Amino acid sequence: MREIFVVHKDGSFFAYYNTCPHTGATLEWQENQFLDMDNTLIQCATHDALFIIDTGECIAGPCTGDSLEALPLIIESNQIHLDI
Ligand code: FES
Repeated sequence: MREIFVVHKDGSFFAYYNTCPHTGATLEWQENQFLDMDNTLIQCATHDALFIIDTGECIAGPCTGDSLEALPLIIESNQIHLDI
C-alpha cells in the first residue's frame, strides 16, 4: 500500500503519492508536515528538494525536473474523493 497526501492551497486540493522521485523516500518532516517554512512549496525532508504545490514539479534539489506522482481528486458535497 502506498501513502498519499493532500495539500489545500487557495481553495484547491492537490493529491500526491508520498514518494520522493529522488530515492523513493517519504517526504514529510514530521507527521502531516509536507511544506517548507513559508508554506509555499512541498519540501522533501531527506535532501530538501522543493516541489510546486499545484503541479508536483521539482524546482530545486537533486530531482529537479522530475515530478511527484499526482492523483486525481473529485470534490462533491464538501467531500474529497480520489478518482482512481
Ligand atoms: S529523497 Fe527527496 S530529495 Fe532526496
